[in-house]
Amino acid sequence: MSELNSAGVTALQPGAASVGRLVVIGLGLIGGSFAKGLRARGLCREVVGVDLDPESCRLAVELGVVDRCERDLAVACQGADVIQLAVPILAMEKLLGELARLELGDAVLTDVGSAKGNVVRAARRAFGELPARFVPGHPIAGSEQSGVEAANGELFRRHKMILTPLEGTDPAAVALVDSLWRALDADVEHMQVEHHDQVLAATSHLPHLLAFGLVDSLAKRSENLEIFRYAAGGFRDFTRIAGSDPVMWHDIFLANREAVLHTLDLFRDDLDALRDAVDAGDGHQLLGVFTRARVAREHFSKILARRAYVDAMHSNDDLIFLANPGGTLSGRIRVPGDKSISHRSIMLGSLATGTTEVEGFLEGEDALATLQAFRDMGVVIEGPHHGRVTIHGVGLHGLKAPAGPLYMGNSGTSMRLLSGLLAGQPFDVTLTGDASLSKRPMNRVAKPLREMGAVIETGPEGRPPLSIKGGQRLTGMHYDMPMASAQVKSCLLLAGLYAAGETSVTEPAPTRDHTERMLRGFGYSVKTEGATASLSSGGALSATRIEVPADISSAAFFLVAGSIARDSELVLEHVGINPTRTGVIDILRLMGGDITLENQREVGGEPVADLRVRSASLKGIDIPEDLVPLAIDEFPVLFVAAACASGRTVLRGAEELRVKESDRIQVMADGLQALGIQCEPTPDGIIIEGGQLGGGEVVSHGDHRIAMSFSVASLRASAPIRIHDCANVATSFPNFLALAAQVGIRVSEEGRS
Ligand code: S3P
Repeated sequence: MSELNSAGVTALQPGAASVGRLVVIGLGLIGGSFAKGLRARGLCREVVGVDLDPESCRLAVELGVVDRCERDLAVACQGADVIQLAVPILAMEKLLGELARLELGDAVLTDVGSAKGNVVRAARRAFGELPARFVPGHPIAGSEQSGVEAANGELFRRHKMILTPLEGTDPAAVALVDSLWRALDADVEHMQVEHHDQVLAATSHLPHLLAFGLVDSLAKRSENLEIFRYAAGGFRDFTRIAGSDPVMWHDIFLANREAVLHTLDLFRDDLDALRDAVDAGDGHQLLGVFTRARVAREHFSKILARRAYVDAMHSNDDLIFLANPGGTLSGRIRVPGDKSISHRSIMLGSLATGTTEVEGFLEGEDALATLQAFRDMGVVIEGPHHGRVTIHGVGLHGLKAPAGPLYMGNSGTSMRLLSGLLAGQPFDVTLTGDASLSKRPMNRVAKPLREMGAVIETGPEGRPPLSIKGGQRLTGMHYDMPMASAQVKSCLLLAGLYAAGETSVTEPAPTRDHTERMLRGFGYSVKTEGATASLSSGGALSATRIEVPADISSAAFFLVAGSIARDSELVLEHVGINPTRTGVIDILRLMGGDITLENQREVGGEPVADLRVRSASLKGIDIPEDLVPLAIDEFPVLFVAAACASGRTVLRGAEELRVKESDRIQVMADGLQALGIQCEPTPDGIIIEGGQLGGGEVVSHGDHRIAMSFSVASLRASAPIRIHDCANVATSFPNFLALAAQVGIRVSEEGRS
């Protein structure tokens, strides 16, 4: 063991620390659990307990919570390296006063009080100034049980622990306390004292006040407690926390008075607004609050942490797909709704007047990010429920400023299309995204939008976040797009709804035209002449019904799967076959694929068909460049088809693939090579030699389509493929594994097969 420093303390390794003597004052649930956990992990030479209650002291020794107890504070603290103050918050001032009179040497002081301003003020009063080696803290953990007999060394595992060091706090003391909590597997965060108190007032103290208050209010009104006989789940759930320790909570409200009052006043205003809505029979207002609240409850923690809706970018949350080799496919399936159309249905439905009903909506994380953004801007949206969404449109000028940044998760489509639409609003707004989206280029939209008069700032090198200044006068313009991008085209057309005069965009090659089609579906005139789409402002959108076809980009995995697997035949129902999206069918057919279109029809302005795919011997081809934009999202899985084909496949003119959710050329090349396929990435494409796929480890880099492509590759692999970083599959295809298993692909989450 390395030498102890002056505090008898030394960091052993990141996340662990060794302490000579730990003194825990207050042997309740929290103090006891802290002592027991560190003692059990052998991180202290000695753990000494102090408590006014002799029975707690006796039990603490008996249960192995501490090595010994001391009645006398001065004796206990002699030679202490760390002193943990775990007494009730209102007892803290007296205890600090007693400690101030002792010779504490270099001991580090820390506490677990639930209100920090109060403890810090008490420490200042007791010591004259805040001791540099005092590190205030608050573990957000607890249990219905209390007392040292409930002490549990694992109580803090995966719970938040907030440290609130001040400017003058000794960094070494902070690091030590931090490492002790990490050793207990707590998720440690640092925060300012005031911020801590406000956050806790809102998220913990207010709910407790309401629970205590509601139970008491009802109990007072019902002499024989008659109403409690009918109190079902809702009441019981809502008031569970009214079973908490009244004395402790009385302490907390007195200690965190200011912050509690502030949050209580804000809540009273909101409650009054709800009361008024009930009084006025304002169902719209009620529905707005309830639908927002429902999703907020699911998504807030993720949004605040700036994570993807799924925690794809977190290394310790590496979701691994294990794909076992071989398989013959059969069956009829319907893949989820089209992602591009789902995004647009929310955007245009929100900007329309009247109520738009959507069916077949993709309940994937990307489309949900768009949906949430419009809720954040005041649009009342019901659902999604089994693909049905009801949007209560607010009209072109009815959006409201969101309370904070709009979080787009992993979704480039949300960010780019919204940037155009928001450039013309009267309010400021910031768009943020997850780690992958934060690396993607946004100048392609920011630059032309600025030419129209928008004021937009990007992060370094034109990356997110995007800050858009409201209240600008936009002017329509003509734009020759330097790249074939439906997102850029759509962004400018949406900005054009708010720009004086005409906005027109010419594309260098045809790209998906869902925006143009859907605008027309909402009664807005859009002209398409050759490669140019144009519209003029001044019109209005009127609500409509939208039936979202199944996504050909999701169907593509099964088109390739059905082609490469032996003796297979599969039908994919109700797939959108908009000619700007069918490049994957054309390319597979050029390679010898056997795909037929059945039951062709049109729904809501979009052509659809059932696609029948049968096994085929594929051959390598030079992919015609004009098909690239028409199959832009399908290349990862087409590379798998090429790896299974005989001969060489060459792709050129596809540099766009390098700036998708990952660099899809490099990431696919790395994966295919790892599986024994010869391929060579080029700046704008790839050359793939067909061969025998082996097994091995591949990394999807959080890119949904890469993860699904390698799942399909297993059909022709000679050994299992482990695919890392697969959580983002939920962005576009939440039930991929279930459908894959249904038709015969042997892929599942590792450990769950
Ligand atoms: C999309 C356009 C394409 C595509 C993306 C969705 C759209 O992006 O890759 O998945 O919905 O407009 P680009 O416009 O960047 O080519």
